[in-house]
Amino acid sequence: MTILITGANGQLGNEMRILSAENKQHTFLFSDVFVPEDSLVTIHPLDITDAASVSAFVKSHGVDLIVNCAAYTNVDKAEQDEATALKINADAVANLGRSGARVIHVSTDYVFSGDEHLPCSEDDPVAPRTAYGRTKNAGEQALLSVLPDAIIFRTAWLYSEFGTNFVKTMIRLGQTKEEIGVVYDQIGTPTYALDLARAIFAAINDDAWHPGIYHYTNEGVCSWFDFTVAIHEVYNMFIAHGMKHGEPITCRVRPILSEEYQYLTPRPHYSVLNKAKVKQTFAISIPYWRDSLIACMRNM
Ligand SMILES: NC(=O)c1ccc[n+]([C@@H]2O[C@H](COP(=O)([O-])OP(=O)(O)OC[C@H]3O[C@@H](n4cnc5c(N)ncnc54)[C@H](OP(=O)(O)O)[C@@H]3O)[C@@H](O)[C@H]2O)c1
Repeated sequence: MTILITGANGQLGNEMRILSAENKQHTFLFSDVFVPEDSLVTIHPLDITDAASVSAFVKSHGVDLIVNCAAYTNVDKAEQDEATALKINADAVANLGRSGARVIHVSTDYVFSGDEHLPCSEDDPVAPRTAYGRTKNAGEQALLSVLPDAIIFRTAWLYSEFGTNFVKTMIRLGQTKEEIGVVYDQIGTPTYALDLARAIFAAINDDAWHPGIYHYTNEGVCSWFDFTVAIHEVYNMFIAHGMKHGEPITCRVRPILSEEYQYLTPRPHYSVLNKAKVKQTFAISIPYWRDSLIACMRNM
């Protein structure tokens, strides 16, 4: 198959690029809205909001499948500019769906309210509370209305060795602050983007095409506070074993409530996804979040 990875400069897009080297039975094309000068692979400039360009690209390159890793992902900025977020997260996703190629798209736990107390399944009712969540929900619906046999992976708390993310921020703050407050009343599951990319490849390489929505995060649950403590512990473990250079992190991590943090955008208190369907359909096992954190920090 000829596979186009959009949003190739992002966290997930980069992990898809890493795994493309293990999937030489396919031909890969990478695209993003902006092409960095120091890119290790050819990144084609392609703004997915431009329907004509998307359609022309798919036809001229004979693309069979698009894995859409492109998105407007800044949750706070989306509150201020929902129109732009909607264009990228919904209208553009419909452009991909109309291009003639099959589509695997990526969505988010933010389509749910976050008020649940049990892990959400794929057919639970959605109730987005943020502009970002509304635009991602609109993207799911737009895609399925033009391409009912699309595959959608909903994920959460994504991090990787690429780009900026919570893991890197907490290492930086740990190295520069004596104490940080991190919320303990928001529960979810950190997800290493490389693991999500592996699940996407399981769907690509399956003998059959299984359309529908799938939930994928790493296994287990924690709060952002627990995640931060683990990040610092793993970092210090690498220092102690001589696998990273530098001073161990001694910063105190203080558990705080969300109301103390003064978020610009309300955050879900509980956003755990039920992954039974993805595990059963694609016969995959999912790593525990702490093991994947270690794997990611080893790759950093
Ligand atoms: N990050 C999370 O915690 C999280 C959680 C749940 C779900 N997700 C979903 O997971 C997917 C991957 O997220 P990620 O963290 O890998 O995202 P990311 O790192 O922000 O990467 C997204 C990429 O898409 C590009 N892009 C933006 N607008 C575009 C356009 N019009 N045309 C083409 N490319 C465009 C971005 O370029 P610029 O940077 O230049 O704008 C960026 O390179 C997204 O669908 C996201 O909604 C993420």
